[in-house]
Amino acid sequence: MRRILHVVGARPNFMKAAPALTALAHRGIPQLLVHTGQHYDRRMSDLFFEQLGLPEPDYNLGVGSGSHAQQTAQIMMRFEEVVEREKPGWVLVYGDVNSTVAATLVCAKLGIRVAHVEAGLRSNDRRMPEEINRLVTDTLADLLFTPSEDGNVNLAREGVDATKICLVGNLMIDTLIRLLPHARWPGGLVVPRPYVLVTLHRPSNVDEPDRLRDLWRTLVGLSRQAAVVFPVHPRTRSRLSELGLGPSPTGLHLIDPLGYLEFLALQRDAALVITDSGGVQEETTYLGVPCITVRENTERPVTITLGSNLLVGSDGDLLQREAHSALAGEWKRGVVPPLWDGHAGERVARRLLDGIPGCAPAGSPCGPRPEP
Ligand code: UD1
Ligand code: UDP
Repeated sequence: MRRILHVVGARPNFMKAAPALTALAHRGIPQLLVHTGQHYDRRMSDLFFEQLGLPEPDYNLGVGSGSHAQQTAQIMMRFEEVVEREKPGWVLVYGDVNSTVAATLVCAKLGIRVAHVEAGLRSNDRRMPEEINRLVTDTLADLLFTPSEDGNVNLAREGVDATKICLVGNLMIDTLIRLLPHARWPGGLVVPRPYVLVTLHRPSNVDEPDRLRDLWRTLVGLSRQAAVVFPVHPRTRSRLSELGLGPSPTGLHLIDPLGYLEFLALQRDAALVITDSGGVQEETTYLGVPCITVRENTERPVTITLGSNLLVGSDGDLLQREAHSALAGEWKRGVVPPLWDGHAGERVARRLLDGIPGCAPAGSPCGPRPEP
C-alpha cells in the first residue's frame, strides 16, 4: 500500500494529527510526517511533539514566518518536491492554517488525493484568513472529515458531493481525552483560585491597536477581581510590546505559551476561559468550563448551542458582565457534542482504509480504491 502522508505546521495541527497517526499505525499503514515549520519556537512546536508522543517529522520544510503569500508559496514550493519524491497514496491535512491550504493546493495540482480533517467549519467571515483557507481546502479535498453535523450541512449547502463527506467527530478531543489524566500544573506558577485563563492571537483582536488596548484594559480590570493567567502567543507578545502595554499588575500573570499538558491543567481548573482560539472553544466545551469568546462569530457553533461557549464580540462591557457571572458560578451547563468521544482518529482510519457503511459506499469515489 502506498504511504499516507500527514502535513502539520502550526500548534493546533499537532493535537489533531496525533490520533490519526496512531490509528493508522495500529493498522500497520506506512506513514510519513511533514512539518512545514510554520511554527518553530520550541514552545509552539517541539514541546508538543514530545508531550503528544508524535514521531520525528520525516521532513521539516523550515518555512518560518512571513506574509500570507510568502508563507503559503514557500510551503508549496518545498512541499511539491516532497510529494514528487514520495508519491503518497493519500495526504492528510488538518484544520485551517496556511500549511493546510498550501499542501492541499500542491496535491490538487499533482493529482494526489487529499483528505481534510476538520472540514466544513464556516465562520462565514472572509476577513478571517482561516476562512479563506477552509473554503479553498474543502473545495479541493477528495475526502472531507467533519467534526460535527454543522460541517456536513455547510458542505452540502456548497454543493459538495455527499460521498466525499464523512462525519467522524473531533480529533482534537481524542487527544484531550487521552492526555487529560496526565495534565499537570505548570511548574513555578502560583495563582490563587478562582482564576481566569486567557488566550488571544487572532489578528482581528491583536493586530488592531485600539482593540488590543481595550482588551488589555478589560483584563487589567478583571485582574482586580480574580487572578488572570495569560500565556501569550508570540504574535500577541510582539503587539503588546509594540504598544508598550505592560508591565502587568500583580493579578495579571503574563507567561510564555505553555505546553499542552500544562495548558490543559489550567483549562480544567479555570473558573472561566477568555479566548479567541478555535481549539480552546472546543476543549472548554468538552471540559464543561465556562468560555467567553471575544469574536463576532465562530466556525464552531456547537460550542455555543451545546457547549459552554458564549460569543461577546468586541463589547467590553458585555465581556465584563459575563465574566462576573462566570466567576459567581452562574453559567449554562453544556453537553459534549456527539462523536467527541475519543475515537475520531479510528473513524478516520476506518473511512480511509475500508469506507464506513452509511458514510460512503465502498467503491465510490472516496471509498477504498485499488492501488494506483
Ligand atoms: C497561525 C494560524 C492561525 C492559528 C494559529 C495557531 C494562519 C493564517 N494562521 O496564526 O489560524 O490559529 O497559528 O497558533 O495559518 N511566531 C513566532 N514563533 C513561532 C511562530 C510564530 O515568534 O514559532 C511569530 C512570528 O512573529 C510570526 C507571528 O508569530 O510572524 C505569526 O505567526 P503565523 O504562523 O504567521 O500566524 P499565527 O498568528 O501564529
Ligand atoms: N494550547 C497550548 N498552550 C497554550 C495555548 C494553547 O497547548 O499556551 C493548545 C490548546 O489547548 C489547543 C491548541 O493549543 O489544543 C489551540 O491552538 P491555538 O489557540 O494556537 O490555535 P487555534 O485553535 O485558534 O487555531
